[in-house]
Amino acid sequence: MVESILKASSLYHVYESKAEDGNVVALRGIHIDIKEGEAIAVVGPSGSGKSTLMKCLGGLMKPSSGSVMLAGKNMTRLSGKELVHLRQKTVSFIFQEGNLLPDMNARDNVAQPLRHQGVSSRKALKLADEMLDRLGILHRARALPMKLSGGEQQRVAIARALITNPRLILADEPTGALDPITSREVLALFKELHEKDGVSFLIVTHSKEVASFADRSLELRDGRFVAEHGVGVDVEDLSRGRELIIDETGTVTLPPDVLLRIGGPGKYVTSNIDNGLLSLQGEKVETMGKLELSPICPACKHDYGDSDLQECPSCGSSRPMVEVSQ
Ligand SMILES: Nc1ncnc2c1ncn2[C@@H]1O[C@H](COP(=O)(O)OP(=O)(O)OP(=O)(O)O)[C@@H](O)[C@H]1O
Ligand SMILES: [Mg+2]
Repeated sequence: MVESILKASSLYHVYESKAEDGNVVALRGIHIDIKEGEAIAVVGPSGSGKSTLMKCLGGLMKPSSGSVMLAGKNMTRLSGKELVHLRQKTVSFIFQEGNLLPDMNARDNVAQPLRHQGVSSRKALKLADEMLDRLGILHRARALPMKLSGGEQQRVAIARALITNPRLILADEPTGALDPITSREVLALFKELHEKDGVSFLIVTHSKEVASFADRSLELRDGRFVAEHGVGVDVEDLSRGRELIIDETGTVTLPPDVLLRIGGPGKYVTSNIDNGLLSLQGEKVETMGKLELSPICPACKHDYGDSDLQECPSCGSSRPMVEVSQ
C-alpha cells in the first residue's frame, strides 16, 4: 500500500472576529489524504478556503479542530521545535507572492533553508546557484527581491522551495504572478519533479494547465470539498466529469450548476436507495417556480451583470438562486 505523505481529518477553521460580521467558518470538516508521489489540485472560487486549507495543512496555522498527519506524525501534537524540524525536511511552500526575505539577495534567500538545516554556508550557496541556474535566473543571483520582477521573484521562491528536496510541495497559486512562458517552464519543472523524483504536490490553482498536471482535483466550496475530478479537469467548466462527495456526516453540497439542473432548492423524495445509488425525485412545491441565479449578491450587493459566476467575485459568498417573477 502506498503511504500517505499528508493526511488530514475533520479539519475545521474559524477566524474569530469581534466585528459586527462575526466569525468566519473558513473550513468545515475537511478530509484529505495525499499519497506519496501524488499530485492533487485544489480548485474553487475565491473565498472558498483554499489558502486557509494550505496554511493549516502546512502547519503555518493551527486549525480550530481536526488533525493533520505529516509523514505519519501528528502535527497538532508536536512541540514548536519538533514541528519546525519535521517541516524543514519534508515540505516546502510556494505562495502566490511574498515568499522572499526582503533584506537578502536571491542567492541568500535560496540558500537560507539549507543553512537552517546546518549545511555549511559555502555548500549552501553552491547548491543555491545550481538551483537558480536550473530555474534560469542565476544571472540575478545578487539582486534583492525588490529589484526583481514578479516572475523573477517567483522563480527564486521556487528555487528556495526546491533546494531542500522536499517530499511534498504545497503551492498556493504558484504561477499566478508569472507570464505564460515562465509559467509553462515552472510547470515543466514541477512535472519532472513529480514524475522522475516522485515528489507529491498539492496545488491551489485557477489555471487549466496547472490543474491538468494533477492526478486528480478537489473542488472546494464554502470550506468543504464538494467534488472530485479526475485527470484533465477543465477549471473553466467544473460541471464535466465531476464526482460529488458525501462526507462522513452525510452532507453533500450540490454545486450551483447541479442545483440549477435538478430544478433548484425544494423537497425531494428519495425514491430509490441502494448500495451506491440514491435517486432524488423533486416534489412540486410552491417555492419551485422558475429559478435563476441571483443577479445581485445578497451579501455585498455586487451586480453580476451578464456573468454566470457562481460565487461573488467581491465577497466570496455563494450565489443563490432566486425565483423569477412571472
Ligand atoms: N485573517 C482572516 N480573518 C478573517 N477572515 C479571514 C481571514 N483570512 C481569510 N478569511 C476568510 O475566510 C474565508 C476563506 O478565505 P481564504 O483566503 O482561505 O480563501 P481562498 O479560497 O484562498 O480565496 P482566494 O481564491 O481569493 O485566494 C473567506 O471568507 C475569507 O474572507
Ligand atoms: Mg487564497
